Amino acid sequence: MTQRKSVYSLSVSVVIRQFKIVNLRLSLFIKPPNMYSSKIAGIGHYVPKNVYTNNDLSRFMETSDEWIQERTGIQERRFADRYEETTTTMGIEAAKVALQRAGTTAQDIDFIIFATLSPDYYFPGCGVLLQREMKMKEVGALDIRNQCSGFVYALSVADQFIKTGMYKNILVVGSEKHSFAMDFETRSRNVSVIFGDGAGAAVLQRAEKEGQGILSTHLHSDGADAEILAMHYPGAHANKWLKDKPAFSDQELGGLFFNKEILESGAALPYMDGPAVFKKAVVKFPEVIKEALAANNYTAKDIDLLVPHQANLRISQYVQQLLELPDDKVFNNIQKYGNTTAASVPIALSEAWEAGKVKEGDLICLAAFGSGFTWASALIKW
Ligand code: ACO
Repeated sequence: MTQRKSVYSLSVSVVIRQFKIVNLRLSLFIKPPNMYSSKIAGIGHYVPKNVYTNNDLSRFMETSDEWIQERTGIQERRFADRYEETTTTMGIEAAKVALQRAGTTAQDIDFIIFATLSPDYYFPGCGVLLQREMKMKEVGALDIRNQCSGFVYALSVADQFIKTGMYKNILVVGSEKHSFAMDFETRSRNVSVIFGDGAGAAVLQRAEKEGQGILSTHLHSDGADAEILAMHYPGAHANKWLKDKPAFSDQELGGLFFNKEILESGAALPYMDGPAVFKKAVVKFPEVIKEALAANNYTAKDIDLLVPHQANLRISQYVQQLLELPDDKVFNNIQKYGNTTAASVPIALSEAWEAGKVKEGDLICLAAFGSGFTWASALIKW
């Protein structure tokens, strides 16, 4: 029996060894699958016409231009047309510009990634609405809910698909219509003075030149403080955010996702512990930028332009100081648009490109931090 077993195991190991040899021989003849690099072939943005200055907001709530500018650097923001514009329609306007600059059309897009925290519908996502409105082919559409880091996450996902050769033309959109979910009363002033509406988009394609395109992306999260920058309703979380949770019957169960009581309690408004967000952001922003630089053997001195998520001008200035970057190497436009969450990086990148600050061969670093918390960076050789 023992002898039979050992003869058996010997023959198995011979088979395995032979298989490995055959495999090795095959791999010498068959080239590994091609890995491509991706590049941003076109970038565009759209902001609504309606400008709301800090003084305009002080008509609705107790705040002042001085307080807002001193704490955030924001002077004004745009709010979408109440009836005509949605997160999707703004995304489409930005996409049209990106497509035109990439020299391609909506019909050539083979995958859509749409990042937003303010979708037109709770479901389905904005990606399919954009696909429908732009009369695109029946390509895949993916929505990403990563708030302020949504666009950099979306870029990273797109990059992987281009790298493997699965898709050739990916449309990445970041768009937000915050104005619809904000409370313009004094109780919410720490949140509502910060955010604005707008959209940005990029078309990703294969890079033709060696060393060109997205060099690497770096994604992180820490859910320990998920609730300190959040909108808790509508949600399926057993109503723990209602202060005096009422007893409810089985019949009422279906209404607990969202109901009149939730609305009246103010629990459906965006919540932010500003100082806690600030503390975490000023650590994670530089960390993830340095991570991207180190991964590609660069230092901060090599950066031609840093395009940080426009969270707060004070956060950007702190990061700039820490990395010892001169003013002309950091792009900020929060003064004009406020914080547009998933749209902020592509709007800023698009404006920087239009201003001639993003040129072929430049080393561009994108970085974002936001609710979740999630944070991310992308290093690009343009
Ligand atoms: N106008 C006037 N007073 C205000 C306003 C306002 N809009 N908002 C808050 N205050 C008052 C508060 O009521 C408080 O008054 P009190 O001392 O009488 O109680 C006082 O100002 C200080 O409040 P804080 O919340 O401690 O204000 P802080 O100085 O921290 O500034 C801010 C608030 C600007 C939100 C800051 O914490 C911050 O920038 N945090 C980072 C958060 C951030 O950038 N979020 C962006 C979204 S997340 C992201 O993109 C990463």
